[in-house]
Amino acid sequence: MILAPDGPGLERAARLIREGSVVAMPTETVYGLAADAFNPLACAKVFEIKGRPAFDPLIVHLADASRLGDAAEPNALALRLAEAFWPGPLTLVLPRRRAVPGIVTAGLDTVAVRVPAHPVARALLRLVDRPLAAPSANRFGGLSPTRAEHVEASLGERVACVLDGGPCSVGVESTIVDLSGPQPRLLRPGGLPVERLEALLGHPLEAVGGSQDRPLAPGQLKSHYAPRTRLRLLPGPSQGGPGAPGRVGLLAFRAAPTHPGHAAVEILSPSGDLAEAAARLFECLHRLDARDLDLIEAEPVPTAGLGLAISDRLERAAA
Ligand code: TXA
Ligand code: MG
Repeated sequence: MILAPDGPGLERAARLIREGSVVAMPTETVYGLAADAFNPLACAKVFEIKGRPAFDPLIVHLADASRLGDAAEPNALALRLAEAFWPGPLTLVLPRRRAVPGIVTAGLDTVAVRVPAHPVARALLRLVDRPLAAPSANRFGGLSPTRAEHVEASLGERVACVLDGGPCSVGVESTIVDLSGPQPRLLRPGGLPVERLEALLGHPLEAVGGSQDRPLAPGQLKSHYAPRTRLRLLPGPSQGGPGAPGRVGLLAFRAAPTHPGHAAVEILSPSGDLAEAAARLFECLHRLDARDLDLIEAEPVPTAGLGLAISDRLERAAA
């Protein structure tokens, strides 16, 4: 059931969450499957609905940075990053407060926290008045949802309601930085460009590569963010004419190839704007995935700014 995010819709969603139900809410990055983070049974439902393995912890969403201490033990660097980038697409991994149930953190002694920027998420957080655990609102390993209709199509039957906040403006998940060790480490490139973090830190950010068996952030599982259709990452711009037999679709970066031949083409950003490309990435993939294709070819994008997160998602979709 899709609800308009007006007064009654928000009240209803907040009541459902207080009663222990799971609600899909918009954030500026992607839609999330939200449950009361202090209610272990409600959080267990999130894992069940997503088909998510229990070793993969959830992100705890807060109404504003002053609530950080509700879930985590902040340190000086966390406070600086929160001040600079919250509300926004940045998730911080910090030592957890004991009050956070083990199911949320998958038994880790750290917790991932962020303050989302979407007005509907923030209104819901203020109304519920407690932190919300929320992973992306898709089946585990699948394409992330950037519109209420994406959630409704895949999980509509299984969530109490979907708050419709329109298309997500950022379009890729939050950047995750681990601040629980001696040095900050990048666990997942995302909606906040690494360059902006590095400018604030004054030094390059170490990126952590997890392994397939022991991922550090399970968003790092090699195969993830994948459409049902097989996807191949091209080494360069498509020369036109699909490079494979069958019905082949193309996810182009700036323009359709001059030689036609693809059964469907989606263009990420005609002007080559990486923020626009990120905002359209999952939407274009959802559309291609609905076209009954044998293969999706994806052009590479530059890896500067939001291009790093786009490239990361495309590589994992192709794995
Ligand atoms: O933009 C986002 O971050 C979206 C919206 C809904 O907020 N959420 C999202 O959640 O992408 P999810 O569950 O799809 O990805 C969260 C990632 C997972 O890869 C998870 O393993 C990692 O965060 N994570 C959570 N807690 C962690 C922890 N304590 N240590 C390391 N990684 C953690
Ligand atoms: Mg996800």
